[in-house]
Amino acid sequence: MDLQTIQNAIDALPRHRFTHLPTPLQHCPRLSADLGGPRIWIKRDDLTGLAFGGNKSRYLEFTLAEATATGHDAAVLSAVVQSNHCRQFAAACARIGLKGVVVLRENDSTMGRKDPAQGNYLLDQLCGVDIRFAPPEQIGATVAAEKERLVQEGYKPFTGLSGMLSRVAYVQCALEIDAQCLSEGLEPSHLIIGSGGTSLSGLVAGLTMRGRTLNYTGTPQSKMGDRTDASARVAQAATDAAAHIGLECAPDPAAIAVTDAYVGTGFGFPDPETLSALRLLASSEGILVDPTYTGKAFTCLIDLVRKGRFGPDEDIVFVHTGGTPLLFAYGEELLVG
Ligand SMILES: Cc1ncc(COP(=O)(O)O)c(C=O)c1O
Repeated sequence: MDLQTIQNAIDALPRHRFTHLPTPLQHCPRLSADLGGPRIWIKRDDLTGLAFGGNKSRYLEFTLAEATATGHDAAVLSAVVQSNHCRQFAAACARIGLKGVVVLRENDSTMGRKDPAQGNYLLDQLCGVDIRFAPPEQIGATVAAEKERLVQEGYKPFTGLSGMLSRVAYVQCALEIDAQCLSEGLEPSHLIIGSGGTSLSGLVAGLTMRGRTLNYTGTPQSKMGDRTDASARVAQAATDAAAHIGLECAPDPAAIAVTDAYVGTGFGFPDPETLSALRLLASSEGILVDPTYTGKAFTCLIDLVRKGRFGPDEDIVFVHTGGTPLLFAYGEELLVG
């Protein structure tokens, strides 16, 4: 399918514009040399903008446009204390003048701690959203109470932050990768991303519609349990994302691998492999990844290279989905390693 048809379908959706697109596709020759591996290209979605950027900035353009187009002037979001999503949401609310509330979930990993006040949690405060805390079992009730409070104060809170639009936003990212590959003369054979479904499925949709037949590896941040149909689910999610913008695609599930092999001891707990992977990328290319999302996906890339999965003449794309403010929340672990 031609690029303009897909672009027109995306452009038909309501959208605020606050990201800096296209993000660069950066060649990493020193990293390739250090690994003795393939040519590696990093799609720099850590540079989308909005208080340090990341993958959520793309979808917030669409989902908050739905909110404002339907007359909403406030929105509530809930996630862990150190959520990248909440930080980008807080910045987007500031940017478009929406009243934002975040309900933050505490837990025992660094991702769930508000002491020290660092990383995303600190940035939430600077962006001026209302911050509430709740233990996991009281999240639903706290979100409902906050919406009620906003209504009492005369706001019209938005409740429909949309996972589907996260996928569509990554169709846009896929179009950028496709165009950048065309201009560099690349035919990437493999794409790796720290996503178990949402961003990954948007990329699969966009690149499949553009006729590209690469293999995909997605790394979720938590164990998947005994779920065995992740590839088929991502393929179906990609088909649904295309259908949402009136297009068709039928990706091959056999080209999609979703692996929780790099989760380590669990969500938010860094492991030695991840810390050494993020040091390698920082020291070879000056590119920073975080210990929870992109660092674990990057550990996957290193592992696949070391296992000989790619020839020296292959081009591999790693999608950097952001999360860099988390480095400051993990200062202690990073210094000790
Ligand atoms: C930096 C980063 N990378 C990846 C993800 C996962 O993205 P997705 O929900 O598209 O799987 C997140 C989710 O919060 C994230 O913050």
